[in-house]
Amino acid sequence: MTKNILVTGGAGYIGSHACVSLLQAGYQVVVLDNFCNSQPSALERVQQIADKSLLLEQCDIRDRAALDKVFSKHAISAVIHFAGLKAVGESCQQPLFYYENNVGGTINLLQAMQQVDVRRLIFSSSATVYGFPENMPVNEATPLAAYNPYGQTKQVIEQIPGDLCAPGMTESWQIALLRYFNPAGAHESGLIGEDPNGIPNNLLPYIAQVAAGHREWLPVFGDDYATLDGTGVRDYIHVQDLVSGHLLALQKLLQVDASEVFCRAYNLGTGKGYSVLEMIKTFEQVNNVSVPYRIMPRRSGDVASCWADASRAREELGWEAKKDLREMLADSWHWQCKKTLV
Ligand code: NAD
Ligand code: WQD
Repeated sequence: MTKNILVTGGAGYIGSHACVSLLQAGYQVVVLDNFCNSQPSALERVQQIADKSLLLEQCDIRDRAALDKVFSKHAISAVIHFAGLKAVGESCQQPLFYYENNVGGTINLLQAMQQVDVRRLIFSSSATVYGFPENMPVNEATPLAAYNPYGQTKQVIEQIPGDLCAPGMTESWQIALLRYFNPAGAHESGLIGEDPNGIPNNLLPYIAQVAAGHREWLPVFGDDYATLDGTGVRDYIHVQDLVSGHLLALQKLLQVDASEVFCRAYNLGTGKGYSVLEMIKTFEQVNNVSVPYRIMPRRSGDVASCWADASRAREELGWEAKKDLREMLADSWHWQCKKTLV
């Protein structure tokens, strides 16, 4: 029987890619989104790529009554919960808004799930929960130490499943916490990708906008870190690889018996780190474009280096990142060039 998967935040960057793969894998998809950081047109393109339709519920995860209606309308097998606000700077300006949306919204969602006995959940967490880790690569046993309100919302949400899955609870939940490193790239069709409003916070959309001539130069935040060339090193992972991790985690959760408790965190990263200057140079080479940049002071709150030990996801989910940096950067540029046309 076809399984209905509820995808909160399904119109967003990662969620839209996940919807394509879920539809292609034969799942029925119900997207729940309030479009606060996305457009309904992304979902049209999702359906175009997959050549299949999905169902849309325009709704806010903070609205419990609306969530209850969604769960009574559709027989949901599992929830993939992408919906959330993700801008670190904005979270420092408006922490209550972030806690309300991310933590409050997730509690509402969990309560609505509990009400109808839907207890399989995949949650979008982030490497940001590790804070300033001392040892590289970072594995899942590294203590959580988020240091900005956005990261704290992820850390607080991660604690909830621990309590739901504590020994002696009468209900059994099956939960996967997926800690993304630095998602990058776009669907190979160039029809969906990341489309930030205003000045991009993240490196790759900024590089793409400079290459396209929408911005004059890229600020490189610091060249005096203890890294190979002094600029920050991160583990960039193709969004398609990230999505394949969700499908494997979903399979795993669906295999676990409903009476069994399952709660596990998984790092999703490639295990390789690249510096900002390597990103710029590779982007220029792969796409035959120029990316002017200027060295600027360090950005506050940045770590020098961060990359994943993803061996747990490999061993337990059979997951591995397949796409390399060149593919991420080519797909990111393809999307940048095409998005004004779609
Ligand atoms: P995104 O902003 O593109 O997508 C989030 C989606 O959630 C948007 O469509 C938005 O409209 C929706 N949304 C937000 N609040 C909502 C609410 N209250 N009710 C209903 N819908 C709501 O972000 P993304 O990059 O696709 O990220 C998806 C998830 O992954 C987020 O939870 C984010 O924190 C997490 N994450 C992202 C990154 C990254 O760098 N992109 C890294 C680690 C973790
Ligand atoms: C990468 C590198 C910057 C922009 C952030 C969030 C994290 C997660 C992913 C959601 C760093 C440098 C950047 C620019 C630059 N999101 N940089 N010029 O900081 O690793 O993580 O996104 O969970 O929570 O904090 O990613 O892309 O912002 O930065 O030099 O204009 O690029 O200093 O070294 P980061 P990023």
